[in-house]
Amino acid sequence: PPQSEETPTPSYTPASEQVHRFPIQPLNRFQGPCASIKRPREVAHFSYDEKHEYRDDDSSISYYHPPDIGADLKEGFQDFNHYEDTTDPHLDSLLRALMRKEKKDGKKEVVDFVTWRGMMTKIMTAPSDMFAEFSMFATSRDGTIYIEEDFPGRAAQRAAEASRPPPRFQSPNQPDHKMMTYWGYKFEVLSLLPTPPPDTPETIIRNRPKAPVSNHAQHCSIIRTAFGPHSLLLGGEVDGLSGPKPPPESDHPIPWIELKTAEELPPRPAHRDILKFERKLLKFWAQSFLLGVPKVIVGYRSKQGILTGVQQLETGRLPGMVRRGTNCWDGNLCINFAAAFLAHLKTIVKGDGVYRIELKKKAGVIEVQEVVRKDCGDIVSKDFTEWRQEL
Ligand code: A3P
Ligand code: MG
Ligand code: MG
Repeated sequence: PPQSEETPTPSYTPASEQVHRFPIQPLNRFQGPCASIKRPREVAHFSYDEKHEYRDDDSSISYYHPPDIGADLKEGFQDFNHYEDTTDPHLDSLLRALMRKEKKDGKKEVVDFVTWRGMMTKIMTAPSDMFAEFSMFATSRDGTIYIEEDFPGRAAQRAAEASRPPPRFQSPNQPDHKMMTYWGYKFEVLSLLPTPPPDTPETIIRNRPKAPVSNHAQHCSIIRTAFGPHSLLLGGEVDGLSGPKPPPESDHPIPWIELKTAEELPPRPAHRDILKFERKLLKFWAQSFLLGVPKVIVGYRSKQGILTGVQQLETGRLPGMVRRGTNCWDGNLCINFAAAFLAHLKTIVKGDGVYRIELKKKAGVIEVQEVVRKDCGDIVSKDFTEWRQEL
């Protein structure tokens, strides 16, 4: 087979023959009323600055201000300042912010699971997406299970994709993957401001279409939530605020927004157009729901990448909207599935071994196996481990 078809060399070897299998089907065992869910509450946050360096503050929070319709999302593509991790980020930034919070409070945050929001999104949406695939590592410390992405695996996969020759029959008007990634970030620049709109000079607002596009800066919120009996700390990027951030002691929901782009629907959409869109809504919903982001703002674009409309969707209303539409996914089922899978993990991930959690495309089963890492990746950072020993 050509080189590009080869499976990337894994960064681990099995530590045991035993493979724990969690079948996704039959789904009816996850139907019915939803496991109780706690509203996510922010416990910590941090920013990455323009160099993607960690900062213990609010400096990279952005504020929503509606973009101008008709803007070209391709503009500035040549100058895209694209950040991609070159070394394994593990859970380091999340644990750094958590450690700071714990030092301030003088006590630890006791939870069952700690992970990035993205890992939970992948687990939650797996039963409704037969093409879903993922690979993660997990380990247990002090009664808490820490889950990280299989970064070496993802890096190897990306390298294999990059070396694959482009499709032979590509229409000259067909944007490639890189361009489509750019659109998403460009939409963010067109829709956000570094300061709240009333404090922002009109010229800055007007000049947004010319502003450089970079994904180095980010703001991450770390929340505590629960899926049934399982408590979790999740960290994830939030795109911006649609209003002032309430003081922590007020316990009001934070008006975060999630920005997303989607291809506009034709004037008279066929069933398959709606299905494609509603399948996308699953990712939008799961991602936003997990961090307690109340609003998803969708930028619709033409095939050529022109912004043709903006729509604000309430995260909490997305499952109902889809139930009444194509019914292609069920939010309660996703939540119950995730709760059941977390219970399953608790029975396996014990001691200080490293476990690999893997779903292969169309496999229909999540496999968990104890492994030995070759890259000595520390899922739990040394600083955090030392701090917890001090406590
Ligand atoms: P869109 O989601 O509008 O395409 P996020 O929406 O999670 O805040 O991410 C912002 C943008 O980053 C995305 O905008 C997309 O352009 C890019 N992006 C995020 N995840 C990606 C992925 N897995 N592959 C390619 N691009 C991705
Ligand atoms: Mg984002
Ligand atoms: Mg977004």
